[in-house]
Amino acid sequence: MPSLNHYGVTMSLMRDVRIRAPSSDEREEFFEVYNTGLPGVDEISEKRFSEWWERCYESGELERLWRVAVLGKTIVGVVINVFNDILRWGFIWELAIHPDYRGQGIGTYLIKESEKILKKHYPDIRELAIGVKTTNYRALSLYEKIDYGIRFVELHLRGKKWIPEGQSTLKIEPPSQDIIPDLMKLTPDSYWSTRNEDSWRELLKPEHRIFRTNEGLVVGYIRMLMEKRKKPHTEIQFNIRPDYGPQVLDACMELLELETVEFWIQDNHQDILDILYLKGYKRIESEFLLRKPVIK
Ligand SMILES: CC(C)(COP(=O)(O)OP(=O)(O)OC[C@H]1O[C@@H](n2cnc3c(N)ncnc32)[C@H](O)[C@@H]1OP(=O)(O)O)[C@@H](O)C(=O)NCCC(=O)NCCS
Repeated sequence: MPSLNHYGVTMSLMRDVRIRAPSSDEREEFFEVYNTGLPGVDEISEKRFSEWWERCYESGELERLWRVAVLGKTIVGVVINVFNDILRWGFIWELAIHPDYRGQGIGTYLIKESEKILKKHYPDIRELAIGVKTTNYRALSLYEKIDYGIRFVELHLRGKKWIPEGQSTLKIEPPSQDIIPDLMKLTPDSYWSTRNEDSWRELLKPEHRIFRTNEGLVVGYIRMLMEKRKKPHTEIQFNIRPDYGPQVLDACMELLELETVEFWIQDNHQDILDILYLKGYKRIESEFLLRKPVIK
């Protein structure tokens, strides 16, 4: 039986596997291995991937936070890491090992290297985090083995728009850049929402909406993404001041064109989940959020 090193990597493979940042000409090969990960789940088009790669190349994130595991010249595994400035969480965001090389410790090795680089580049990091589909037992057991624990469930729910009872008292207006400090204080629908002030600046569009009380307090922000071709629906993403969720959602219903609505929503929004389940919303997918505190 082959012996194991401290990463759990079999020694014979370990001698040959190298982990390094991808080089600028490896985009296609990276994408191919990335796509062998979970085909059909969270898939992104090559165009969107290329834009992501280019952005990260320009910003230096590719060099800092993306990694490939290589055997000789062949990429056998890929990982993309992300840092959230607001939460001070380092995320192991995307991880895939080529099917021919799974179960030999390379995934564990890539995670351990990711943890090292996140801690090195972001000394104020508080948590390491990973999201995993609730059906992905294999990845889940790997993460739990290396001390990540489940903290939240993200629910992807689908249902119908509803007619609010009574007239909303919230004022609805388009956002402006000077409102970003207020928006950063709201609780997002999911942990992967905006991660710093710059990402808010990039995100805000005139068609988004903010919600204010009569006293001028900003209590909600809504982004609606309409999918009109396949299974027409509106995906709603939000940031909400605690206790104002039901009011903001009611007000938001008045803005919807399509009948079907989808949310990705974290289980800390229990008040909103109460409403959605009462309205007949059903889970179509779900994801665990696992975390491990960084001990200093
Ligand atoms: C999940 C994945 C990244 C793991 O990488 P890997 O190199 O196969 O994992 P490792 O060899 O380091 O395995 C570590 C642990 O994973 C689990 N694991 C590995 N192969 C497994 C299998 N066939 N069945 C169940 N669990 C398995 C075990 O807990 C294993 O620990 P052990 O070897 O002590 O039993 C890889 O299987 C993969 O690319 N899967 C598809 C994409 C994916 O699910 N990505 C993660 C999205 S969050």
